[in-house]
Amino acid sequence: MAKMTRRASLGVGLGALVTACGGGGTPTPTPSPIGTATPRPTPSPTPTPTPTATGSIAAAAAAKNIKFGSAFAWSTAGANAGSFANPQYAALLERDCNILVPENELKWESIRPSATQFDFTRADDMLAYAQRQNMEMRGHTLLWYVEERFPGWQRTYDYGTNPRAEAERLIREHVTQVASRYASSITSWDVVNEAVEPSTGGLRQHSLSATVGNDPSLLDLAFRSARDVLPTGELVYNDFMDWGSTTHRNGVLDLLRGFRNRNVPVDTLGIQAHIGFFSNGTAQSIVDAQRPAMEAWLDQVVALGYRLKITEMDVNDRNRAGTIAQRDADCATYARGWLDMLLAYNELDEVLVWGMADRYSWLQNFGTPRADGTALRPTPYDNDFAPKPLRQTYIDAFNAASVRT
Ligand code: XIL
Repeated sequence: MAKMTRRASLGVGLGALVTACGGGGTPTPTPSPIGTATPRPTPSPTPTPTPTATGSIAAAAAAKNIKFGSAFAWSTAGANAGSFANPQYAALLERDCNILVPENELKWESIRPSATQFDFTRADDMLAYAQRQNMEMRGHTLLWYVEERFPGWQRTYDYGTNPRAEAERLIREHVTQVASRYASSITSWDVVNEAVEPSTGGLRQHSLSATVGNDPSLLDLAFRSARDVLPTGELVYNDFMDWGSTTHRNGVLDLLRGFRNRNVPVDTLGIQAHIGFFSNGTAQSIVDAQRPAMEAWLDQVVALGYRLKITEMDVNDRNRAGTIAQRDADCATYARGWLDMLLAYNELDEVLVWGMADRYSWLQNFGTPRADGTALRPTPYDNDFAPKPLRQTYIDAFNAASVRT
């Protein structure tokens, strides 16, 4: 943590410098020759001080034995990407995070260009960066159980005369190769992602699941294969839980119960936490309305012996009207309500956001744009890398949380 503290004080120092020089400093006037009229200086507009990030989210979290981090990307696009190769973005990661997760680069579509090839180049680069910064990296994901998220070749794959056996072989091979390659450094994996169909609460149906019908055996196999190579690793089932209806979250609960009944090695529920304004009302009233049902649900999850983790948090303000300041305040209030509710569980000791800066948030390109054409504001930093109220919310929520025991 010494690292985080040093970076935090660097942040404060730089901020002070920016404020002192950013338009406030008046140059010494050159004396005008006698008799010439001194031109009236044009008053400069009062400079808007650039907000400065003070402290460190990760440091606030660490004080409670909690890890805080973010998704990040691989890119050679430098300043155009939410990547460690972009110095402005890397500065945010290094100031505020102690754990990172590749946004896409460990998914099948990234590391498995064909059934017979693996390409770990990008994931390796990202891990090397995390290690240089003394940050952990977690893995996302070994099996994203959604048809559109399979690589093209997988969607049309010929499973042959014994489809079940071939599907099992493919999954075992994938999980074993990927998890064992990183076994000494990536110790927490979203082994399975989004296996529950939101409209039915049953398992999703697609070209891969068609090889086994409606049973969860491929999910069980993924977890068991991961356990074989990560005897002490943390194996996570990750999902979004549609909090607006009971169908999806009850389906997830059934799945979690089934894992326990079948003795499948699943340690933790990953709660994606892509929260947002999908109903009307004040931010506080929306959280308050969700809270009882969510707590009742989470109580059942921890009663089954699962740990909890927030894996992909952001706050979608696509449908939120108002000024930027109002939207930011609403996002902060909503996030705080969620964080307080979840951090009340001692089983939760890790929070990751799905990106640190609005400029690179996946939500800017996911779904329709805002009606007023402005960018969404789901992350701790804005389009110009200035900290927003949401950043302080994470710090405040960790400050208010109890120490994990
Ligand atoms: C998203 C990425 O952010 C996008 O860049 C990509 O195009 C699609 O996937 N739930 C998940 C993440 O589990 O993997 C998704 O990430 C966001 C929703």
